Amino acid sequence: MNRKYRKTVIAANWKMNKTPTETKAFMTEFKGLMPKGRWCDVAICVPAVCIPAAVRAMRETRVGIGGENCSAHASGAFTGEIAANMLVDAGCKYVIIGHSERRAMGETDAEVNAKVKAALLNELIPIMCVGESLAQREAGITEEWITMQVKAGLAGIPEEKIRKIVIAYEPIWAIGTGKVATPEQAEEVCEHIRTVIRKMFGAKIARATSILYGGSMNEKNAYELLAQPDIDGGLIGGASLVPEKFVQIIEAANQPTN
Ligand code: PGA
Repeated sequence: MNRKYRKTVIAANWKMNKTPTETKAFMTEFKGLMPKGRWCDVAICVPAVCIPAAVRAMRETRVGIGGENCSAHASGAFTGEIAANMLVDAGCKYVIIGHSERRAMGETDAEVNAKVKAALLNELIPIMCVGESLAQREAGITEEWITMQVKAGLAGIPEEKIRKIVIAYEPIWAIGTGKVATPEQAEEVCEHIRTVIRKMFGAKIARATSILYGGSMNEKNAYELLAQPDIDGGLIGGASLVPEKFVQIIEAANQPTN
């Protein structure tokens, strides 16, 4: 982390877990445990139907609610899809885009790029995910792959908008597997992502961009991961479903930085 130049963001990705009723119960418990200090931004991204309950519960707190996906289109005949302006109107501040589980369902880099643009147009903060598979890591092409994903995802986005984007590095082999990347492995790729952004948009923007790590991050390994200079927060799946664990990860972001 580097709090001088960029925000620390601790974000939850609930995936397809919890009903609206369970959301309300989580939020009540979470609010009681939430640390008072403001050392980081906190985002909770929830299933679309849980957004109203989450927004209602977190009103007048500093926690931002987010969606887990949005359409690249503004409106129209796209049954089952949700437009970025609908998320905003429902009270969202964030949206996860290009999660590997969605990419596995067929989402392309071009679609990720279009969705990031749709989110920005509606003043939503996109949390754009990138990450390599185990086969790609073992083949030694992690950096090339990540470079390609970052370049494609951010293509054609004006400089002044890049500052609003949060990037999450999530190695696919670490997601939901309990097999966390070592702090060194995670730092190496996050630093590389910053280099790619520097080449695309310049040093100032690269320095100001928050880059998160995700993949089996939990209350036990968060402190060490967040101590890395280029890891500015986390995108947390499993451990974000339990209020005490998620709170402990937020607390781990309260550590000295450069
Ligand atoms: P995990 O999920 O923390 O359960 O590994 C992270 C994610 O997919 O965002």
